[in-house]
Amino acid sequence: MAWILIVYATDYGNTRKMAETVADGARSVAGTEVVLKTAEEATAEDLQAADALILGSPVHMGSMDWRVKKFIDKVCSQFWMKNTAVGKVGAVFATGSGYGNVGSGAELALLSMLNNLADLGMILIPLPKDTEGYAKSGLQWGAYARSAGENLEQTGVSDEGLVAARRHGVHVARAAAVLKGKTIFG
Ligand SMILES: Cc1cc2nc3c(=O)[nH]c(=O)nc-3n(C[C@H](O)[C@H](O)[C@H](O)COP(=O)(O)O)c2cc1C
Repeated sequence: MAWILIVYATDYGNTRKMAETVADGARSVAGTEVVLKTAEEATAEDLQAADALILGSPVHMGSMDWRVKKFIDKVCSQFWMKNTAVGKVGAVFATGSGYGNVGSGAELALLSMLNNLADLGMILIPLPKDTEGYAKSGLQWGAYARSAGENLEQTGVSDEGLVAARRHGVHVARAAAVLKGKTIFG
């Protein structure tokens, strides 16, 4: 049984919708259990039990949400100190609604979360460009969906974004199943 921990922050529900969709995708892989928690709920015990951690954040002022960073600084840092997250699988997703095609800071938000997961020694899962949904709502760093139109009118996350999010969950669950119990580093 592979355990996937999904940790996210949300104010208006868009990132929660993505998180639930990533979770649906992961659960569709036989032998996968998913724990879905906000960044304020998730504990060290949750991460200890997890074979994979998927972080999700709204883009806030060009970077990740402070609650996700707090989870990284308060909870994940304990694992960094002891090297106890080394070899777990890691992945990220985000929602945003800034001006422009991608939105200001989406890549920085995704990359800074990935950077933190790499710092923990995790095996990072990207979003390949042939993933379903990627063409309209994908970034190689992970699933990303806009939640507003060109003039910032709120639309909710796009269907394509949800398709890519579901596939991202499938990919991470498959990787966790393959890598569970295997020694990669050391
Ligand atoms: C304080 C704040 C700052 C934001 N800054 C950005 C930003 O820099 N770039 C962007 O693309 N969207 C930005 N947004 C829009 C949110 O990322 C977007 O609406 C997101 O989908 C909200 O997720 P949620 O519904 O899970 O809270 C910001 C929203 C808020 C509330």
